Amino acid sequence: MERLQKFIASSGYTSRRKAEELILNNHVTVNGNLINELGFKVSEKDIVAIDGKTIVKNNEKVYYILNKPRQVISSVSDNEKRKTVIDLIETDKRIYPVGRLDYDTTGLIILTNDGNFANLLMHPKNKVYKTYIAKIDGILNENDFQKLRKGIVIENRKLIIDHFKVKNIDKIKNTSLVEVTIHEGRNHIIKKLFENLGYDVKKLSRIKVANITLNNLKSGEYRQMSNNEVKDLINYLNKKS
Ligand code: URA
Repeated sequence: MERLQKFIASSGYTSRRKAEELILNNHVTVNGNLINELGFKVSEKDIVAIDGKTIVKNNEKVYYILNKPRQVISSVSDNEKRKTVIDLIETDKRIYPVGRLDYDTTGLIILTNDGNFANLLMHPKNKVYKTYIAKIDGILNENDFQKLRKGIVIENRKLIIDHFKVKNIDKIKNTSLVEVTIHEGRNHIIKKLFENLGYDVKKLSRIKVANITLNNLKSGEYRQMSNNEVKDLINYLNKKS
């Protein structure tokens, strides 16, 4: 059993708040009876209708890959009314981002309405590899390389760096681009990693999650994952767990 407004929202018909308005304004019937209270509960067997039209629950799962721009927040809503990753995707499904990228981080983020898939991707035991490109205000030295190879203790826990590579050095501006692959999901972890080495991250972008890349997606663009891509990723994650 679930609350009527939740049932309507999860059908993809509208948001939960709008569903509440519809109920309170006498638009909703359950098995032919007008219901205008929010506590009312329904089951899958009940016939829910809005203005006489029966709601069919659409349980179809969807999976999107978004190239997140800067100044977009990785959550479903924001108290400060900042743009969210959800605002960038046209869908009637109640999707949410899998994990987070900082407000000023760009790049690959996956969004879905499939909770099992999201859990598989986020579970630490699955060690999902994530690759970032960081622009830092300095040039790494041999001492830094050694630390990166050994792993770096951040907030009392060792961060293992699976792979790193200096992609570019600008000696005049004293900056470099470093590619880093890790399998952790701690907040601000890449910024903390470089902070630990004494560098500031000027720009950060995620370019890969597991076997998924952005391909040709420009900033702000998104695409739906194909069935095969989803299947491959789920198989890959299931093999690990
Ligand atoms: N690490 C960070 O510091 N920021 C991100 O957005 C992702 C990883």
